[in-house]
Order: sequence, then C-alpha cells, then structure tokens
Amino acid sequence: MPRRIVSVVGARPNLMKLAPVVRALRAHSAVPHYIVHTGQHYDTAMSAGFFGDLRIPKPTCNLGVGSGSHAQQTALVMQRLEPVLEGLEPDLVLVYGDVNSTLAAALVAVKLGIRTGHVEAGLRSYDRTMPEEINRELTDRTADILFAPSADAVENLRREGIPDERIYFVGNVMIDSLIANLGWISGAPLVRYGLEPGGYTLVTLHRPSNVDDPGVLADLLTALSLIGREGPVLFPVHPRTRRRLDDLPPLYTEGGATLIDPVPYLDMLALVRSAQVVITDSGGIQEETTYLGVPCLTVRPNTERPVTVREGTNRLVPPNGEALLRAYRAVRHAPRPGPCRIPGWDGRAAERIADVVGGTAERRSVSDLVRRATGEVAAAG
Ligand code: UD1
Repeated sequence: MPRRIVSVVGARPNLMKLAPVVRALRAHSAVPHYIVHTGQHYDTAMSAGFFGDLRIPKPTCNLGVGSGSHAQQTALVMQRLEPVLEGLEPDLVLVYGDVNSTLAAALVAVKLGIRTGHVEAGLRSYDRTMPEEINRELTDRTADILFAPSADAVENLRREGIPDERIYFVGNVMIDSLIANLGWISGAPLVRYGLEPGGYTLVTLHRPSNVDDPGVLADLLTALSLIGREGPVLFPVHPRTRRRLDDLPPLYTEGGATLIDPVPYLDMLALVRSAQVVITDSGGIQEETTYLGVPCLTVRPNTERPVTVREGTNRLVPPNGEALLRAYRAVRHAPRPGPCRIPGWDGRAAERIADVVGGTAERRSVSDLVRRATGEVAAAG
C-alpha cells in the first residue's frame, strides 16, 4: 500500500471519475489521499459545484492555470504541479481521463519518479486531430498502472505493445458515479424547464470540430431548430460553445433550442435519464445514455468508446445538419433496449482500483473479468 496518494484533476469530466475513487480508497485504507485541482476549468458551474454534488472533499490546492493554448495550459500545469508534488511527496499519483491536465500531471509525476496510475486508460478514437487522443496515447505510454474501463481498451493497450503487467481491467468509474447518484436525482430539473419525461431532446456540443467552425455550428443549429419544431430541445451550453454562439447572428440561436448555462451533475443525470433523444459530442454522455438505455446521437465521425455503439444506444452522426435531422427522426421512436450488460459497468470499478492500489487485487485475465461481470449482471437482473 502506498503511504500517500495524490489525485490530479482539472476539468469537469475528471470529477465524476474522481468521486468513486475517493470513496473506494477511503473505504479500503486510511492512507492520506490529497486532491490537486489544476484549475483548467474554473467557473463554478464547470468545477466547484461538482465537488458539492459529488461529495468530493475540497482540493488541497488549486494551481489556477485557467485558459490558454494547449501548450500554455499543459506547460503551466507542469510548472505549477512539480513543486506541489515535491512538497506532498506522494508515492502514487492518479490521473483521470484525457484532458490536458491529465497528460501534464502524468509527465510531471513520472519524471519525479512517482508511480502513476491512469484511470480510464486505453480508449482510442484513432483520430489524431482530437487533442484528447494525443493526451490518451501519451498518458498511457507514460503511466505505470493502466486502469482500463472496457475490454476494447485492454486490447488497444496490448496492440500498442504495453505489457500485461501494467494493465488492469477494472471497469468504468463514470458508471460507478452514475449508479451511486441515481437514487439522488429528482424530477425537479424537468419541472424547472417545463419538460415531460420522454418528451424532449437534450443537447450538448463543445468539441472544437463541431463548434469552432461557424459554418458547421450554424448548420447544426439549423437542424436543432427543425428538431425543435417536433418537440422541445434543451441545450446546456459549455463555455467554449457559448463564445462561438455569441459570434453567430442571433437568427441561429433564437426560436430553436432553449439555451441554458451548464447544469449541475445531478440535474444533468435527471435530464439524460428522461430524454427521448440525446444529441452530444461528449465522451461521458455516450456512456451514460448507453447505461440508461436512452437513444444517443453522437455528432462525431468516430468514438473512443465503440462499446457504446456496439452494445449500447449510441449512433455516430457526421457533423452536418441534414444527417443529424435524419438520424433524429430514425431514433426518436426507437424501442428502449433492456438493461446494460457491458462487463465492468457495474458500479464497482473504483473498488477494483482500490484493490489494485492496495495490492490486494488478484490478477485476472480479461476473459475472467468479462465472465465474472456478465455473470454478476445476469444474477442482478
Ligand atoms: C476540455 C477537455 C475535453 C473535455 C472538456 C469537458 C482538453 C484538451 N479538453 O475541453 O476533453 O471534454 O474539457 O468540459 O483538455 N472555459 C471557461 N470556463 C471554464 C472552463 C473553460 O470559460 O470553467 C473556456 C476557456 O476559457 C476556453 C474554453 O472554455 O476558452 C475551453 O476550455 P478548455 O479547458 O481549454 O477545453 P474544453 O473545451 O473545456
């Protein structure tokens, strides 16, 4: 067991992954676990609010890196994190997901000779134009322990020549958070926005490829306004997208989707669970809709989460308005699938991470865990 653990997080999607790990490590041992926030996301709606919702302890420190180019953001995390890790002297650093803070923290930790674990390792879109893909590849090459969320992630790592000793198939911590919080959500957000369960479309778009080009964004908004004629459309807007929307003529943002600020985690879960269709380019939402059986249209040419397409409710849609409208009409009345049976998406991924960290995990082959996880789901169902 390590003597001291530090988790480094920086952006909104890191926080749902951190929360179950904090709880599992606490349940497993009394080893001090410090949280360092890089400050990549800094608005309350993108960060501080999530600590409360997810019941995560306050970070030990915030590096306050804020916005910048990829190089600036990554470099600033590295510069500011190094002395913090030297001061805290952890013997394990955990990093999460694929954001700039993830790669920056992994590089700093490994160069200080600290063992480093990557939670959500092995996901690949094989699209190197996505900044997250570079972060994924390099973090996995850098980290010592790779916690894979799904069997395809394990296979990706093996194909890249990463030895089995570094890979642990633990399952999906994002689904841990979802399962842990399902009992806390209410219908209040639907009432607030005047929505009927199963009677609206929920939208999130923030990838540079969808929102940074005004032509692409305007085309997608046109489709959303046509979808809006067939039923309500609610669109919680990411800050990156908000800036791009502000640059478009009002014609594109008026009278179609209802645009609101980013919503808290529990509200988002409630809105996803009761949506008729979700339109997104987020990684986490592809997983949440799959688990909840909600039809999801992912506006991207590819996904690093192919299991959501193969075994879930996710469909990839090219980033053009006509294709989006067609796909929406094709899925809106689709029958809901049965319970999600993806191995390792069972609410216990963080427990398995704690077992590995504590040295009590038995090394299991992928097929062993697949059998076990499927058996558990079948038994539960
Ligand atoms: C980052 C991640 C992405 C993740 C997303 C979730 C990288 C490369 N990308 O993208 O993988 O899906 O977070 O949200 O790390 N901004 C604010 N307030 C905030 C945060 C950001 O106004 O609290 C603004 C920034 O000033 C910037 C823009 O939003 O102009 C983008 O922020 P940034 O952290 O660079 O990347 P995201 O697009 O959020």
